[in-house]
Amino acid sequence: MTDILIVAHTPSANTKAMAEAVLRGTQNEAIGPLATRLLSAADAGADDVQNCRAIVIGTTENFGYMAGLIKDFFERIYYPCLEHTEALPYALYVRAGNDGQGAKTSIERIITGLKWKPMQSPLICQGEYRPEFLEQCEELGMTVAAGLDAGIF
Ligand SMILES: Cc1cc2nc3c(=O)[nH]c(=O)nc-3n(C[C@H](O)[C@H](O)[C@H](O)COP(=O)(O)O)c2cc1C
Repeated sequence: MTDILIVAHTPSANTKAMAEAVLRGTQNEAIGPLATRLLSAADAGADDVQNCRAIVIGTTENFGYMAGLIKDFFERIYYPCLEHTEALPYALYVRAGNDGQGAKTSIERIITGLKWKPMQSPLICQGEYRPEFLEQCEELGMTVAAGLDAGIF
């Protein structure tokens, strides 16, 4: 069983660093230890989702929507996970040059169908890339880990 599964689309050095920052946050030494795992969207499947206690989804904004590989991930896991992962705690972050709303709402619509429960408001890392995105991603990972460890979720 994985405590925290991070499923991310990371097509660039910046987005890879952001996913790794989330992972680092989940492995903060003041929390846990928790079994945490980072998988690319293409490598993650329904078994991984069915065997985690919480999930973090990370996407880029592509064509004002979620990344194609994140949509492919949801298409592969939706029916196998439906009715098996209800109330799974989740967090979402979006790397967006524009407002990220299309990516955010399209993912939230799918997750509403899956009946997963949000652990925090989605993080939108918006505009030109800034190093503070890494701090925000690490904090997201820490928040998820601390909440899970404390039994809040
Ligand atoms: C097909 C395609 C469509 C994209 N559409 C958008 C978009 O609508 N808005 C946006 O901000 N970035 C868009 N991008 C850029 C990606 O989101 C980009 O890879 C991501 O923001 C990471 O950029 P960075 O490493 O420069 O931070 C698109 C990329 C591709 C390949």
